[in-house]
Amino acid sequence: MKRKQFRIWLLLLSVGAIFAACEGPQGPAGLNGTDGTNGIDGVDGADGNATCMSCHAGDTRENIQAQFSMSVHSSGINAVDYAGGRASCARCHSHQGFVQYANNGEVLGDITNPTAWECATCHGLHKTMEAVDYALRLDDPVKPIFNPEITMDLKGHSNLCANCHQSRRAEPNTTNPGEETFAITSSHYGPHHGAQANVVAGMGFAEIAGSVAYPTAGESKHLNQASCVGCHMAPFDSEEGEGGHSWKPSLLACNTCHDAELTDFNYGGVRTDVMAKLEELRDQLITLGVVAGNDTDGYHPVVGTYPMKQAQAFFNWVGLEEDRSFGAHNPKYVKALLQNSIEAMAAEIDKLP
Ligand code: HEC
Ligand code: HEC
Ligand code: HEC
Ligand code: HEC
Ligand code: HEC
Ligand code: HEC
Repeated sequence: MKRKQFRIWLLLLSVGAIFAACEGPQGPAGLNGTDGTNGIDGVDGADGNATCMSCHAGDTRENIQAQFSMSVHSSGINAVDYAGGRASCARCHSHQGFVQYANNGEVLGDITNPTAWECATCHGLHKTMEAVDYALRLDDPVKPIFNPEITMDLKGHSNLCANCHQSRRAEPNTTNPGEETFAITSSHYGPHHGAQANVVAGMGFAEIAGSVAYPTAGESKHLNQASCVGCHMAPFDSEEGEGGHSWKPSLLACNTCHDAELTDFNYGGVRTDVMAKLEELRDQLITLGVVAGNDTDGYHPVVGTYPMKQAQAFFNWVGLEEDRSFGAHNPKYVKALLQNSIEAMAAEIDKLP
C-alpha cells in the first residue's frame, strides 16, 4: 500500500502533471505506457527520480529495516508496556503518543493499545522534497521541559531525539531557588532515565561552584560537529553493526573524526576517569546518607530533606549515571559537574560530626 502510493507519486512527478482524482467506477487496467523522458534537474543538480530513489529504493529501505530491528526503539522492550499508554508518559514512550505530541503539542488522553516505534513514528511527510528533507515529524530546537522559557538546540535532525531524551525536571536549586534544604520525596527522584540531550547541549544540570569552570552551554565540539545523529546514526558500519538506524554509537565515527584507531570509546582515558568519578561521588552520597544500595540491588536516593548542595550533587550523579555515555556526550561539561560536585561533597563530609 505504502510502496504503491510512492510509485504513484513518482509517476506523477515524471509525467510532470497532477491529475484530479476521479470518482467513477474503475475500468480494467490499460497497457503500460512507454517510459517518459527524464525530468529536468532538481535544485541540487540531481535528477528528480535519482534523488527520490536514493532514499526510497527497495534495498535502501530493507537495509534500514534490518538496522532498525537491532534497536531497542523497535522493540520498546522496557519503554512501552509500563509507560506507553499513560497520557503523562506517552509522548516519549509509544508510537501513538509521540505522533499525537508531534501533531498537537500534547497527548490527548490515555492510549489503550500503545505500540513501539516504527518508521512513521519519527518520519511523517516531506515539507520541501529536497535531498535534506528526511520528513522528520519534529526537528526544530526544543523548549526543554526543565525550563520552557529557553531554547535547547541539538542542531538539525538531532532535535528529534531531544524531544524524548531530555530531563523531565529542573535541578533542585532551580526548582526551589535559594533555599537551604531540598526534600527528596520519592525513591525515583532525578532528571529521568535519559537526559542525554541536556548533557550534549550542556544545560539543565546543577552547576555547583568549584575549581573547574563550566563550559558555555551550546558550544561543545561534539554538539556542533556531531550531535546525536553524528555519532549514533553515522553511516551504518556493517562490520561492527553500529550507526544508521541501529542507533548504536559508531566507533568508526569517533575514529574518523579524531583520526584515531580506538578499539573502544575510551578516548584519552576519559571514560575510565568519568566512571571512577561517578563511583567516588556515589560513595560520598552514601556516606552522607543521601543514597543507599549496593551493586546487586542497585542504588536509589533515600527519601528525606537534605542541604541544597547534597540534593544537587545527587541530581548530577543520577543524571550522569543514567546518561550512560561516561563523558562521551560532553567531556568538558561532565568533568566540571563531577569534579565540582565531588569537591562540594568532600566539604559536606568534613562538616559531619
Ligand atoms: C533524504 C531521503 C529522502 C529523499 C531524497 C526523498 N524521500 Fe520521500 N521519504 C523519506 C522518508 C524517510 C520517508 C518516510 C519513511 C518512509 O516511508 O520511507 C519518506 C516518505 C515519502 C512519502 C510518503 C510515503 C508513504 O508510504 O506514505 C512519499 C510519497 C515520498 N516520500 C515521496 C518522495 C519523492 C517523490 C521524493 C523525490 C522528490 C522523495 N520522497 C525523496 C526520505 C526521502
Ligand atoms: C520527555 C520524555 C519522557 C517522558 C515524558 C517520560 N519518559 Fe520515561 N523515558 C524517556 C526516555 C528517553 C527513556 C530511555 C532513556 C534511555 O534509555 O537512556 C525513558 C526510560 C524510562 C524508564 C526506564 C526503562 C528502562 O530502560 O529500564 C522508565 C521506568 C520510565 N521511563 C518511566 C516513565 C513514566 C512512568 C513516565 C510518565 C510518568 C515517563 N517515563 C515519562 C523519556 C520520557
Ligand atoms: C527514532 C526515530 C526514527 C525512526 C523510528 C526511523 N527513522 Fe529513519 N531517520 C531518522 C533520522 C533522525 C534520520 C536522519 C539521519 C541523519 O540526519 O543522518 C533518518 C533518516 C532516514 C533515511 C534517509 C537516510 C538514510 O539513512 O538512508 C531514510 C530513507 C529513513 N530514515 C527511513 C526509515 C525507515 C524505512 C524506518 C523504519 C524501518 C525509519 N527510517 C525509522 C529517524 C528515525
Ligand atoms: C519518541 C521518543 C524518542 C525519540 C524521538 C527517540 N528516542 Fe531513543 N529511546 C526512547 C526510549 C523511551 C528509549 C528506551 C527504550 C526501551 O528501553 O525500551 C530509547 C532508547 C534509545 C537508545 C538505547 C539503545 C537502543 O538500542 O536503541 C539510544 C541509543 C537512543 N534511544 C538514541 C536516540 C537517538 C539518537 C534519537 C534521535 C535520532 C532517538 N533516540 C529518538 C525514546 C525516543
Ligand atoms: C560524541 C559522540 C556522541 C554524541 C554526540 C551522542 N552520543 Fe549518545 N552515546 C555515545 C557513546 C560513546 C555512548 C556509550 C555507549 C556505550 O557505552 O556502549 C552513548 C550512549 C548513549 C545512550 C545509552 C545507550 C545504551 O545502550 O546504554 C543513549 C540513549 C544515547 N547515547 C543517546 C544520545 C542522544 C539522544 C544524543 C544527542 C542528544 C547523543 N546520544 C549524542 C556517543 C555519542
Ligand atoms: C565530528 C567530529 C567528532 C566525532 C564524531 C567525535 N568527536 Fe570527540 N571530539 C571532537 C572534537 C573537535 C573534540 C575537541 C578536541 C579537543 O578539545 O582536543 C573532541 C573531544 C573529545 C574528547 C575529550 C578529549 C579530552 O581529553 O578532553 C573525548 C573523550 C572524545 N572526543 C571522545 C569521542 C568519542 C568516544 C567519540 C565517538 C563515540 C567521539 N569523540 C566522536 C570531535 C569529534
